[in-house]
Amino acid sequence: MNRVFEQIRFTVESTKDGSPTLRLPDLGEWMHHSAGAASETLYIYKSVIDKGLDALSSSKTCVVGLGLGYIEISWALGLLERVGYEPVPLKHQITSFEIVPELKEHFSEWLNQDSDLIYDQISDCFKITVDQKKSIKNILAANYKLLPMQSDITTYGESTRWNIICYDAYSSKTSQQLWSEEFLNTFLKNHADESCVLTTYACTGNLKRALEANGFQIIRRTAYNRIKGHSTLAFRGPSFNAEMFM
Ligand SMILES: C[S@@+](CC[C@H](N)C(=O)[O-])C[C@H]1O[C@@H](n2cnc3c(N)ncnc32)[C@H](O)[C@@H]1O
Repeated sequence: MNRVFEQIRFTVESTKDGSPTLRLPDLGEWMHHSAGAASETLYIYKSVIDKGLDALSSSKTCVVGLGLGYIEISWALGLLERVGYEPVPLKHQITSFEIVPELKEHFSEWLNQDSDLIYDQISDCFKITVDQKKSIKNILAANYKLLPMQSDITTYGESTRWNIICYDAYSSKTSQQLWSEEFLNTFLKNHADESCVLTTYACTGNLKRALEANGFQIIRRTAYNRIKGHSTLAFRGPSFNAEMFM
């Protein structure tokens, strides 16, 4: 299992809820919170994706940072729980950004093959049944046929606007540009739909200013697995209101 990732210099680590994460040794940063990659995803991302899917009859979701695909898997699970399996063209779509080509390839391979230890482990941590796993893979494979995965978010040239934004970049120490006010401002100006909800594990001044400049109402949530500290959930437009997220 580890060899695929080791070839691209990641080490596989286990987080405290038993779910795997990746660490890039040169940088030392883990992709997820050490307390639990799966439980962090459920708290920060899936809870908001679910609200978005409930509120919108059709939606476009964007994930910044595919990594191991936890958010994508939880999005497909949320969809399955709500509207069931949908053939293409999909009313609910997802676009994933990832700069490491091997991570995209490895995830796509899993979608088109029987099993892979790490993704099967992730599915188990989400308590996904065998039947659900098949449908999740079909939903994602169909979606990525329709809307292929993207690479670098900073050079994205299309004009897509998203309703649900899952912003899961590395920290600003590792991915400085992705957390700059200028980049966040331009990204939201060009790619946030009129009805949009954004969720991220982070809570920074740059993000707050960029969200406010683009008309978002901000809800500071308690950070995952911390008594102090916050994560960010923000929304704008007619489909969302603060009560939905309380
Ligand atoms: C914190 S990890 C994401 C974890 C992931 N959401 C998961 O569920 O496993 C951040 C990811 O962003 C990717 N990344 C870094 N810079 C990027 C960029 N400019 N555009 C797109 N992806 C980027 C990294 O390669 C890494 O996989």
